[in-house]
Amino acid sequence: MTKEQSQSMLQALNPFMPGAGMRPPELVGREKDLEIIDRMIARVKLHAMDRGIIFSGLRGVGKTVLLVACQELVERQGMTTARIEATGDADTDYDAMFGALSRAMIMSGHGSLFSSIQNKLANIESISLNFHGIGASLNTNTQDRPGTNSMRLELLIESIAQQLQKKDSGLFLFIDEFQEMASEPLGTLISLQHRMGQDSLPFYIIGAGLPNLPGVLSRSKSYAERLFEYRIIGQLSAEDTAEGFQKPAAREGRPFQDDALEELVKVSQGYPYFIQAYGKAAWNASDSSPIALRAVKESEADARAELDEGLHASRWQRATVAGREYLAAMAAISGDEPSSTSEVARSLGKNTQQASSIRQSLIELGLIYSPARGKVAFTVPDMGEFILRASPASGQTYDGKRQPER
Ligand SMILES: Nc1ncnc2c1ncn2[C@@H]1O[C@H](COP(=O)(O)OP(=O)(O)OP(=O)(O)O)[C@@H](O)[C@H]1O
Ligand SMILES: [Mg+2]
Repeated sequence: MTKEQSQSMLQALNPFMPGAGMRPPELVGREKDLEIIDRMIARVKLHAMDRGIIFSGLRGVGKTVLLVACQELVERQGMTTARIEATGDADTDYDAMFGALSRAMIMSGHGSLFSSIQNKLANIESISLNFHGIGASLNTNTQDRPGTNSMRLELLIESIAQQLQKKDSGLFLFIDEFQEMASEPLGTLISLQHRMGQDSLPFYIIGAGLPNLPGVLSRSKSYAERLFEYRIIGQLSAEDTAEGFQKPAAREGRPFQDDALEELVKVSQGYPYFIQAYGKAAWNASDSSPIALRAVKESEADARAELDEGLHASRWQRATVAGREYLAAMAAISGDEPSSTSEVARSLGKNTQQASSIRQSLIELGLIYSPARGKVAFTVPDMGEFILRASPASGQTYDGKRQPER
């Protein structure tokens, strides 16, 4: 075998794989979260009540893969599960929920039960929609009236939960990028979660999203604070981070040397996406076993390039020129720490109103969030460092290899 061939064989065995929603070779540091899910399942089986769960954290901390791991766990225990990613468009989100719920019922072996629920609902709906129609013609203020989709979703979920409870089972709805959901379906879901709890019916929302998600929920319905258990998904401990590198590498027969591992723990800062990027680059840079510190050092530039492309550049490109100026000002003022909004406005020479509309559009793009009153911070780890290093100051495009995602 030539040197090139053996090198490409080694690379093919690389267990690390950075990428959005990509299953990691080892899901580290999430035992507590999975335990909570386990407890919920046990309670559902006993017809005892619990709260839904909200996971929130920065980009790339592993919310999506945690959500998927939770779903798999719940499903293995005989519960019915549906998963969607919120888009911000009410109709699209409703369609996704209806689609996921019917699929969930069929896949969990409740296809015929689902048909009978649908038949029953068709009758109820035609009556109540007529009733609604009369109501609408009498009342011109239709703004707060739940729409057809909202009512259909409520009836559907309630019926499913009632039927599943008879089988000591329950319905779990997993929602990724939950902060994106349009306000109407969001309000419907929260009030539904509330009502199902009051009626002791086994329906639980497990949501994941950016750090602003808890605020989005409580602005929608103030009682949302009490409905969910809020879990912050953040950086992993040094111990878990080390395991995230070492376990997969050792399993493939090439562990990291102690000092190499120490370096990896340091540069990755416990960010799951970073673990995959640095792990992948280090593995590819070495053809010996164990993998030595020198290989890790040599590979760090490659890892950073991978992170720039996968995590930072596409997000930078998503912002408008004014948005980029705002981001660059944040980076210049406080790097990756939260910045004061008034200081950013001052440094841009804008009045509060102008600056706040730019800020709002960056929040809507999911690029920044407000960690406290009067503060803004990046949703992507090391974004400030990227902006300062790649120095794509005001409006200049990042000269990366990859094109923007959208
Ligand atoms: N607990 C973990 N241990 C090791 N690697 C992980 C862990 N969680 C996630 N990863 C890896 O980190 C990367 C990012 O994960 P994921 O897409 O789930 O993050 P996210 O929080 O959903 O990000 P985003 O906000 O961009 O959607 C993936 O490559 C995944 O394999
Ligand atoms: Mg995600």
